[in-house]
Amino acid sequence: MLRDRIRFKPLLDKLVSAEEAAAYIQDGMTVGMSGFTRAGEAKAVPLALAERAKTHPLKITLMTGASLGNDLDKTLAEAHVLARRIPFQSDPGLRKAINAGEVMFIDQHLSETVEQLRTQQIKPVDIAIIEAVAITETGGIVPTTSVGNSASFAILADKVIIEINISQPASLEGLHDIYIPSRRPTRMPIPIVTPESRVGLPFIPIPPEKIIAIVVSEKQDSSSTILPPDAETNAIAGHLSDFLLNEVKQGRLGYELQPLQAGIGTIANAVLHGFIDTPFHDLKMYSEVLQDSTFELIDSGKMTFASGSSITLSAEMYKKVLPRLSEYKHHLLLRPQEISNHPEVIRRLGLICINTALEFDIYGNVNSTHVGGTHMMNGIGGSGDFARNAFMSIFVTKSIAKNGAISSVVPMVSHVDHTEHDTDILVTEVGLADLRGLAPRERAAVIIANCVDKDYRDPLQDYYDRAVKRGGHTPHVLEEALSWHVNLREKGTMRPA
Ligand code: COA
Repeated sequence: MLRDRIRFKPLLDKLVSAEEAAAYIQDGMTVGMSGFTRAGEAKAVPLALAERAKTHPLKITLMTGASLGNDLDKTLAEAHVLARRIPFQSDPGLRKAINAGEVMFIDQHLSETVEQLRTQQIKPVDIAIIEAVAITETGGIVPTTSVGNSASFAILADKVIIEINISQPASLEGLHDIYIPSRRPTRMPIPIVTPESRVGLPFIPIPPEKIIAIVVSEKQDSSSTILPPDAETNAIAGHLSDFLLNEVKQGRLGYELQPLQAGIGTIANAVLHGFIDTPFHDLKMYSEVLQDSTFELIDSGKMTFASGSSITLSAEMYKKVLPRLSEYKHHLLLRPQEISNHPEVIRRLGLICINTALEFDIYGNVNSTHVGGTHMMNGIGGSGDFARNAFMSIFVTKSIAKNGAISSVVPMVSHVDHTEHDTDILVTEVGLADLRGLAPRERAAVIIANCVDKDYRDPLQDYYDRAVKRGGHTPHVLEEALSWHVNLREKGTMRPA
């Protein structure tokens, strides 16, 4: 069995325990680890490292593709192993350590990390730890349920530790397409012309002598934490599909739309799920995370192909999909995240990008990351890669949060991730604002009329009317612009008295 998974036989001599492998990691090192949105992370070695740190404290910089499952970020943060964390996380425990200033978190566009590594703009990776389903006859690494940054970590690191996960189905082999852009200044265009384009290898090519240790693990990926669709997310999906249907009617789109990208989380998943009950057909995805909704659309016959960088599913969907992976294979492809999120490819394919905002303002600036302007939620992830380069950039959110104590539409966002120049369409359960071709004053009118909860509409209109009296291209009452956030901090609600 193990011989089928480790097919380059000399590497069988490298089998060690997780504790022995973790011993290679020293204080001050930069570790590049597999893992993207709770999928395909190395599991045994980081846990052994956290255990060791209890008696032998050490600090590392941890880079991954994106967030980790199996409570790894929490466990590593609680063991005080993390000095720096790059480029994304979504764990409440690590979030606490970041917001307390204990862990330095570099919140980065997901397409950028390995470009900066490759050009030595950030500290190099000392050791890569990659979860694999197999090692090929030539020593190539076959990743599991995510590719993320694993390929470049393994290629750029001096030393590589492999976790062969025997609980991950062998049928994952063949799902991956590993393409690494060539060096500048002679870089060639990335030859992806449709979401299905296969342009690389089905494994990560590295010299096998770089592999210093192999650990066998059986721990499964954590299932996703998304909630099922509710009345508000159904309403958001309804507004969006009505809008897209009108685009078809106007002749600007066909029923197959443009390839879709959908962000992480409950809302984006629910919105995509809503496409099942629409007349759209032959849909394709060129996205980052393939969530439950992708498989529901494939099962319903609505979607023909999905390209992503990871597969992150609910427990129920895992049970359904993993045993039938071979059947799904001709509908799916997993790429490195710098390719799934590459500006060049996003522009070429002309993606309709749907991401979630925490809040947006009357001019269409979006905050996806900072609660109250100061406290990190998860990170920008790929939303910036997609929004700035999209054919159509859509942001969705519920109009209120925390039982109405928070309005998600505010006079001025308390942190900017996506500027007004990167947002075309905003949708809440109240309605949809089409901002294309509109100047700031026109945008404000459309956003206030269509997206705001009834309790906040009049106060927002009043703010805007007073701002307009002061003049300007983008009118504001500056001393009041963040007063809703100040109210929230001081009184626990943005709601006007
Ligand atoms: N201010 C403060 N908190 C807010 C808020 C606001 N304006 N709007 C929502 N929230 C809170 C919710 O109450 C909820 O809190 P809880 O976890 O305590 O229940 C939490 O934020 C998540 O909101 P939810 O409505 O469940 O949405 P979600 O699961 O779809 O997540 C984001 C929304 C914005 C946090 C998430 O999409 C994200 O991290 N995005 C940034 C990264 C990204 O876009 N990646 C995609 C690229 S592929």
